[in-house]
Amino acid sequence: MLTSARLRRGLSLSRLLRLLSTTSTPTPTPTPPESKPTPPPPTKTTTRAHLRRVTDPDRALSLLSSLSSSVSSYKFSVGYVARCFSLSSRFDDAAKLLDSRIPHSTAESDFAFLLASYGRASIPDRGLSAFKARIADGSLTVSVLSFNALLSAFLRSGQFQQVPHLFTNLSEEYHISPNDVSYSILIKSLCLSRKVEDALVMLKLMREEKGINPTIAIYGIILNSLYKINKFEEAELLWNEMVERTGCKPDDAAYNARICYHATRGETDKVLELIKEMETAGVKPTTITYNFLLICHFKNEHWEDVKKVYEQVFLMKVCKPNAATFRILLEGFSRGRDFERGLEVFRSSLNKNKVPDFATVSMFVEGLVKDGKADRAKAVVEQVRKRFPVYLTDKWKKVEKDLGFSLDANETASDGIGGGSQ
Ligand SMILES: *[C@@H]1O[C@H](CO)[C@@H](O)[C@H](O)[C@H]1NC(C)=O
Ligand SMILES: *[C@@H]1O[C@H](CO)[C@@H](O)[C@H](O)[C@H]1NC(C)=O
Repeated sequence: MLTSARLRRGLSLSRLLRLLSTTSTPTPTPTPPESKPTPPPPTKTTTRAHLRRVTDPDRALSLLSSLSSSVSSYKFSVGYVARCFSLSSRFDDAAKLLDSRIPHSTAESDFAFLLASYGRASIPDRGLSAFKARIADGSLTVSVLSFNALLSAFLRSGQFQQVPHLFTNLSEEYHISPNDVSYSILIKSLCLSRKVEDALVMLKLMREEKGINPTIAIYGIILNSLYKINKFEEAELLWNEMVERTGCKPDDAAYNARICYHATRGETDKVLELIKEMETAGVKPTTITYNFLLICHFKNEHWEDVKKVYEQVFLMKVCKPNAATFRILLEGFSRGRDFERGLEVFRSSLNKNKVPDFATVSMFVEGLVKDGKADRAKAVVEQVRKRFPVYLTDKWKKVEKDLGFSLDANETASDGIGGGSQ
């Protein structure tokens, strides 16, 4: 069993990791703050950074136990490890880890953060129990802050159907006055439940009865839903109401909702016109805006325009690509059979730790093989197998089998992607 004292002695990181990976049962209780750390390696920063790349929950937990719980980022690491457990369907372990942090969350902001972590770990009901228990034992006076964190835990974990009921029940039961944030969570949940009409009722209620001014974010959420379900007329009416009656200045999210509507219809002119309008209004187009522009070009199979956006926006660093950008680009370049560009995109998604989803990457790999680039395809699969959580390994094996190669037979040299190993 590895003791924390041994951890603190100057072991090299790789040796430490080897030791940790053979540790039988890691202790869920984190190490108390150390008095004076002796020789540096491994530093807290490297451990923390390393933790973020580990997906095996036991290893992540071992790394967590070597971090000091006194640093402010510790709570993020706890949340991350809990999520690792949940992704491996070990929900009880996730709950145990988060529950163990409750007594340490004496400030409400820390408790609220913890509640949000229950959501990220897909166990918001355990967060609800913690919330009620803390009120019952009087160990913390909870306010709308915790209430909002709890509601957003349900929202974020996909259990948004529960939000409207909890909103009413908890606010009444515990005499909490919902604020604009609470309403935005409620309205978002209603929209996700395809109850846009109810969301519009709530918008009216908060504005007219509760006297809370809807924020642009709330309008953005409803607009987004209306455009998504093709209620174009209603959306435009709400847009005008927002601008004229409330003086809310449309932000990037509101514009993006509108742009999305036209992009998915391939209406390039309208999309470009709206981007121009945005810029004129002093709202900077975002990554999401350009993602929609890319979607619009793909819709029309305008591969050259895709390349232009890729080069002029993302390569020129006008906007940073996000996970969706990488997915859209990789899919687009695969369909357009531009595999050199595809590899470039894949490589930078690896560097940014934003490798697209399984379906997209396997489509790309298939394209590479069909294009006679089996060596590149192998290198790509090798890289994704390293990165994707364990549960996907079988899927990858099937892809390899379908494409007629296996990485298990021969261990390829590490990063063959750049060099092209043939
Ligand atoms: C909230 O729900 C609980 C459990 O379902 C119930 O016992 C309680 O009476 C409800 N409170 C209100 C104010 O509706
Ligand atoms: C595996 O490597 C051996 C030599 O090390 C080679 O003969 C064989 O063809 C390789 N198999 C595959 C599937 O690449």
